[in-house]
Amino acid sequence: MNRRDAEKRARELRREIQHHDHLYHVLDAPEISDAQYDRLFRELREIEEVHPDLVTPDSPTQRVGGAPQTEFGAVRHSIPMLSLDNAFSVEEVREFDARVKRGLALAEDAAVDYVAEPKIDGLAIELVYEKGVFVRGSTRGDGTTGEDVTPNLRTVKTIPLRLRGDELPALLEVRGEVYFEKAKFADLNRAQEEAGKAPFANPRNAAAGSLRQLDVHVTASRPLRFFAYAIGSAEGIAFERHREMLDRFSAFGFHVNPLARDCHGIENVVVAYRNLHEKRESLPYEIDGMVIKVDRVDQQRRLGMKSRSPRWALAFKFEPIEATTVVDDILVQVGRAGVLTPVAAIEPVRVGGVEVSRATLHNQDEVTRKDVRIGDTVLVHRAGDVIPEVEKVVDPDRRGRGERFCMPEKCPVCGSGIVKIEDEVAHRCVNAACPAQVKERIRHFASKRAMDVEHLGDKTVEQLVERGFVKDVADLYALRKEQLVELELFGEKSADNLLAAIEKSKKTTLSRLLHGLGIRHVGEVTAKVLARAFPTVAAIEAASVDDLQRVREVGPELAAAIRQFFDEPLNRELVRRLEKVGLEIAPEERPAGGALEGKTFVFTGTLAMKREDAKALVESQGGHASGSVSAKTEYVVAGEDAGSKLDKAKKLGVKILTEAEFLELVKKAEASS
Ligand code: IVH
Repeated sequence: MNRRDAEKRARELRREIQHHDHLYHVLDAPEISDAQYDRLFRELREIEEVHPDLVTPDSPTQRVGGAPQTEFGAVRHSIPMLSLDNAFSVEEVREFDARVKRGLALAEDAAVDYVAEPKIDGLAIELVYEKGVFVRGSTRGDGTTGEDVTPNLRTVKTIPLRLRGDELPALLEVRGEVYFEKAKFADLNRAQEEAGKAPFANPRNAAAGSLRQLDVHVTASRPLRFFAYAIGSAEGIAFERHREMLDRFSAFGFHVNPLARDCHGIENVVVAYRNLHEKRESLPYEIDGMVIKVDRVDQQRRLGMKSRSPRWALAFKFEPIEATTVVDDILVQVGRAGVLTPVAAIEPVRVGGVEVSRATLHNQDEVTRKDVRIGDTVLVHRAGDVIPEVEKVVDPDRRGRGERFCMPEKCPVCGSGIVKIEDEVAHRCVNAACPAQVKERIRHFASKRAMDVEHLGDKTVEQLVERGFVKDVADLYALRKEQLVELELFGEKSADNLLAAIEKSKKTTLSRLLHGLGIRHVGEVTAKVLARAFPTVAAIEAASVDDLQRVREVGPELAAAIRQFFDEPLNRELVRRLEKVGLEIAPEERPAGGALEGKTFVFTGTLAMKREDAKALVESQGGHASGSVSAKTEYVVAGEDAGSKLDKAKKLGVKILTEAEFLELVKKAEASS
């Protein structure tokens, strides 16, 4: 190939690869296979090897490259990167709205147009594009001067090296947040631990730590992502509205947060806040609030800024999911399989809207690594429904009070020996009859998602076990009223109530029973899988490891755990006794085989019905509801104010239904099944 042809072909390849990168990383809708992509990439690399002068800075081959740096250079931001004023209550948000209206000389009852978007808990950065080519990227730093992390930012796949489109501005500074997804963060920390390195305290630290790496190969190995949400300097491009800017960013190839909402008037902002708050825990990344921005750029300009923050924007924060408090004691709890868990008893503190007085320390290795001691001030983190955990000691210098924590040699509850199995971090109490284990097994069996025995509180379980009335879960069904009235706080009425509840729990499903048995690795979902594959507990008991593994979702570890459970004579006897108490096991509800089997639905915009109800309808016919639109989506059900998901569906040619059409479809599906 002569140089002219090589140059032309390289240009084509770069365009093509950039296009597929965008489809894959930003739109989540690849059109070609990985192998096809690799072929394009290889061809480009070969051309560039023969003609090194044809390499351009925006070439996809340049994402990772260069020798390790020795330090980061300084970058002065052409326009300072501001921070935001915070609000913690609806009143403060309404006051902000009132200030905005006064500033704009609007009537008190006027409605300002706002855009409300998630406040991503990551790291603010600025990207400079000259004639559409990425030339420089920097951290926020102190707002005036940041660090030059250009080579590191090149490795972030959701940051375009060249803007898409033909009309490219002479200069565009795009600002936004580099962040780490929660699941990827958990993977990273697992790998860090395996490599004997200290884990990161939270996804934000992981993002900052991964970006600020002198060796870009390390950054490239970390799945960092980027959302664009603000602008610095610009030449040859201007916007009238924030929303218009976000749309242009999207068209240029950036990821713009799909949850950004247009809100006419502050009360709609409050609604958007509540909706976002509800979604908080289910989002794949951490957010710590909502950013409210005046949509009209002319209004932003008139409002101007204070010394460090704009008057036209506000961060409406969620309650933090982290808090500092003091460790009063370190207790050791015994779980239903005998695993010993060190738990910090902490001075009660509110974390993410819940008062917390206990936080897990996981295991001996973790306590050693974090070196948590009684009297220490610690940071406690609560993510989702997960048990709060001690993240780290905040004042490691003020040590010297408590002793180093060490796991007891005997079970703190029954005094039996403790074993530590090789390759496992856990210490275990060897006594299956340990009262702590028995109590936990009963609590688990009776819990809402297992056999759902009402009126059986922790205190009652404790007394039943301590008095020897109940030694295993089958004993619950032999309880007599005379025994119950002997218990503290029990009268005739409460005894009758509990007995009735125990009786009622006999009507159950196979998956509830399986879940309740507390087999290792068999949680609610796995129990359902098993219950769909086998007709009875006896059939599972009779299944070999191979039989079990024939079930699609069952892997070797799970199969072995199930087998191990039923190989234990005491467990088999327990199952025999449960069979005799007269359980009425209803056939498993089978969503599989429904008319919507295998079909993925995405709901967007405001629907008349509740999202949970819509989701339940789809699932009742074997379908699946997802949060994001991709090439795999069968239908998008669009309500009012449907935004970017609808756009994406149109782009991808996904079928779009109104709510009425959706209900019609479900009705037909029900009729046919
Ligand atoms: S706008 C003038 N939008 O919050 C506007 N910031 O306290 C400046 N942040 O340093 C920022 N998500 O790191 C904006 N959607 C969003 C944001 C966001 C997260 C962070 C950003 C900034 C801090 C402001």
